[in-house]
Amino acid sequence: MTRKILVTSALPYANGAIHLGHLVEYIQTDIWVRFQKMSGNECWYVCADDTHGTPVMLRAEKDGLAPEELIGRVHGEHLRDFSGFHVAFDNFYSTHSVETRECVEEIYARLDAAGAIEKRDVEQYYDPVKRMFLPDRFIKGECPKCGTKDQYGDNCESCGAAYTPNELKNPYSAVSGAKPELRTSEHYFFKLGACSDFLKEWTLSAPKEGQGNPDAEGGVEKRRLQVEAANKMREWLDSLEDWDISRDAPYFGFEIPGAPGKYFYVWLDAPIGYMGSFKNLCARVGIDFDDYWGPDSEAELYHFIGKDILYFHALFWPAVLDRARFRTPSGICAHGFLTIDGAKMSKSRGTFITAESYLDLGLDPEWLRYYYAAKLNGTMGDIDLNLEDFVARVNSDLIGKYVNIASRCAGFIDKKFGGRLTRTDAGWLNEFRAAAPRIAAAYEQREFGRALRDVMALSDVANVFVNDRKPWELSKRSGNEAELHAVCSEAIEAFRLLTLYLKPVLPKLAEAVESFLEVAPLTWGDAGVPLPEGHAVGVYAHLMKRVDPARVAALVEANRESLAPAEATARAGEKISIDDFMKVDLRVARIVDAAHVEGAEKLIRLVLDIGETKPRQVFAGIKSAYDPAQLVGRMTAMVANLAPRKMKFGVSEGMVLAAASGKGETPGIFLLSPDGGARPGMRIR
Ligand code: 2FM
Ligand code: ZN
Repeated sequence: MTRKILVTSALPYANGAIHLGHLVEYIQTDIWVRFQKMSGNECWYVCADDTHGTPVMLRAEKDGLAPEELIGRVHGEHLRDFSGFHVAFDNFYSTHSVETRECVEEIYARLDAAGAIEKRDVEQYYDPVKRMFLPDRFIKGECPKCGTKDQYGDNCESCGAAYTPNELKNPYSAVSGAKPELRTSEHYFFKLGACSDFLKEWTLSAPKEGQGNPDAEGGVEKRRLQVEAANKMREWLDSLEDWDISRDAPYFGFEIPGAPGKYFYVWLDAPIGYMGSFKNLCARVGIDFDDYWGPDSEAELYHFIGKDILYFHALFWPAVLDRARFRTPSGICAHGFLTIDGAKMSKSRGTFITAESYLDLGLDPEWLRYYYAAKLNGTMGDIDLNLEDFVARVNSDLIGKYVNIASRCAGFIDKKFGGRLTRTDAGWLNEFRAAAPRIAAAYEQREFGRALRDVMALSDVANVFVNDRKPWELSKRSGNEAELHAVCSEAIEAFRLLTLYLKPVLPKLAEAVESFLEVAPLTWGDAGVPLPEGHAVGVYAHLMKRVDPARVAALVEANRESLAPAEATARAGEKISIDDFMKVDLRVARIVDAAHVEGAEKLIRLVLDIGETKPRQVFAGIKSAYDPAQLVGRMTAMVANLAPRKMKFGVSEGMVLAAASGKGETPGIFLLSPDGGARPGMRIR
């Protein structure tokens, strides 16, 4: 039976770059969707940029852009990154769209008609300089518990206390610095408190008849929520409060019909963006929207999300949908957070890695897809990207085991047998075919790690077979042609089956194998159909490179951010020892060449003579203050023992010293120079 399935990933905010943390979710969802499509189901995968709200509005203002310009630019960047990692949405749209507006207005009208909306006065901090109400994260002040300065309006990073912005001592606006005032304004609320009974039932129940996976066995995948999520819900359901869904102007979003100056809160319209994106797809390819969203839909609907936004998807969203007479999700598939080398991603450690930098440095996106898949399961547990293990695992599994099967056998088929296979139905391959439903079940349950362990165990079997039968020796002695032909044909058939099982994870590699095997795109059903005797394959070309650990190190360097000026100043009071200072190798340098860097807003490329045989290349962020022509020939000072840093434009082999203005001062950058007489390479101390 063909299932109808609609799948979403969380909508990325339109004010930031995609990083490796985001990719856990998009790769997870994409693998699941590809598996469903390969299994013959009608499966649609939609997403969009989450474009509304105060942070996007302020960011655009800071960049001197209209919000529409900012979200347009970011949309292009997001699309580029997703397609770079082979995340194949059927539609990647925007919440700032006609379709999303229509859906938001319809849902709001239905909620209002059902008596689910209420207006209430709310007292909130207002920035009198910026003339806007401040969201909690734009209010800072002293922690009411421990007194630490510059803490956000909702919790203290120093002692961990949680509080409301009104409790902060000496609050100030993070936007203008002004002292905020408490002001009252009318807000619109969705009466979530009244949905308590519905939500209690919804949380624990199986999807409605026809809206769940008909093939699911056992209880696990019949529930809408994972066990950990259902437990969380129990806590939340004990203290349900009505939900504030409006924000006052200035706000970037959709104005509430009939309420000038009041806007829908971004978190109301974001999930409705799933509908908007799908509606746009429906019009484009001719799908019936109500088949998927109508109250009597017989389709499945899954939202893949991070565990941090479970609240929005498992409480607000089903309640809103139910009160507005739409169908509710079949399941919420929440995953955990990504850590890198066991810690939270960090800009100063260089582990806040952008998707763009990964691709720019020429790392293969399928390495990361494989590594994530190997670590993913159906729970909300966090996953760790250990960079050393990443290199080892990809090289050992993909190159050492999987690719190795084909690379040791394909050549003989081409050279000795005119590219034609002999029979491929040997008994030892039965276990490969029998694995198909087991691996399918693992994909279905999002137990990707289990699926891949199964595939690698089969790869081991195939490698043992090749090792035992030694085609390279068979080929040396005449009289063994039939055996050589059989061994290589069977190994190629094993390789075809392994490729099929890996295809949701490694779609591009699978495409290359399909073209080498000269077969149509592999589907799950092909597991039961061996390559026929006499089938001609193409010429084998190398399928995948090994991961070079130096490239991974360069990736970390490229993402390492030197301390931001604010952090650096905060540390200025700290004392260091003379030994600490002596670790810095400061040298006099002569600028022998200087040039603009194409595509870089702030950088000048300098070539510096510090008395070494080869001059150093350094990229310096001084373009706003210097014309390269003026720099050639002058002397300056550089840090000579900084680890080389691979940047988009080349490797930077040090840092020149300059004085730079702080916040609030007249902007300026002033390169340091030694007094006359200093020679290139002299140590500065
Ligand atoms: O947390 C986030 O990044 C949000 N932009 C996710 C929105 S998901 C959905 F509700 F739209
Ligand atoms: Zn505190």
